[in-house]
Amino acid sequence: MSKSPLRIAVFASGSGTNLEAILQAIEERTLRDVAVTAVVSNRSNAGALERANQRGIATAVMKPASFDSEAAYVEALNALFSKNNVNFVVLAGYLKKIPLQLVRQFQGRMLNIHPSLLPAFGGPGMYGAKIHQAALDRGVRWTGVTVHFVDEDYDTGPIMLQRTVPVYQNDAVETLASRVLAVEHQIFPEALRLIAEGRVTVTGRQVSIDPLIPKDTASNQ
Ligand code: GRF
Repeated sequence: MSKSPLRIAVFASGSGTNLEAILQAIEERTLRDVAVTAVVSNRSNAGALERANQRGIATAVMKPASFDSEAAYVEALNALFSKNNVNFVVLAGYLKKIPLQLVRQFQGRMLNIHPSLLPAFGGPGMYGAKIHQAALDRGVRWTGVTVHFVDEDYDTGPIMLQRTVPVYQNDAVETLASRVLAVEHQIFPEALRLIAEGRVTVTGRQVSIDPLIPKDTASNQ
C-alpha cells in the first residue's frame, strides 16, 4: 500500500474512547498524515459524537433501519464521505453491520478493532461484556486485542495486529474489560500509523507489514 495521508471516517456506537485515543495520538503528533474528518454513529447519544463535536469534526447520526433501502443508506454515507474527502474507514465499537457494498468499496481500507484474540470469542453477537464473560467462562489465561481489515462477515477479515492481555484468577468482566481497553488504545493508533506510513499490504487473508529499514543500510544499497 502506498504512503498517503489518511482521511478517516470513524464509526462508533459507544463512548468513543478508541476514537479519543486516535484523536489524542494525532494531537500529540505521534500519529502523522492521519486526520479524522467524520464521525458516524447509529446512536444520537453516543459519547463518540461529543468527542468529535468538541473538535469541530463533522458528525452524522445514521440509523440503518431509518433508510428506505440499504442502497439509500450507502448513498447517504458516500455523500458524507465525499463531502469530507474520506479515504479510509475505522470501526471503533460500531455495533451495526456495514453494508456489503461499502465493505467492497473500502476493501483494504476499512479496519475494525475487537477485544479478543480472534478467531476466539468473535462473530455475530460477540461484543462488549459478552466477549470478556466468554473468556472468563472458558478459563483462558490470555485474551487480547485484534485489529483486522473488514470483510463480508463479522470479525473474519484479515488480521493486521494482535496483542495479548493476561487474565487473572480474580478477574471480573469489568477488570478484564478495562485491562483490554487500555491495550486497544495503544494498538489502534499503532495500526493507523503503519498504514499511513505505507508499510501494510493485504494479500488475500494475509497482512504483511514492512519492517523499518534503518537509514544506514538503505544508503548502502
Ligand atoms: C471497545 O471495547 C471495542 O473493542 C469494541 O467496542 C468498544 C468500544 O469502546 N468493539 P469505545 O466506544 O471506543 O470506548
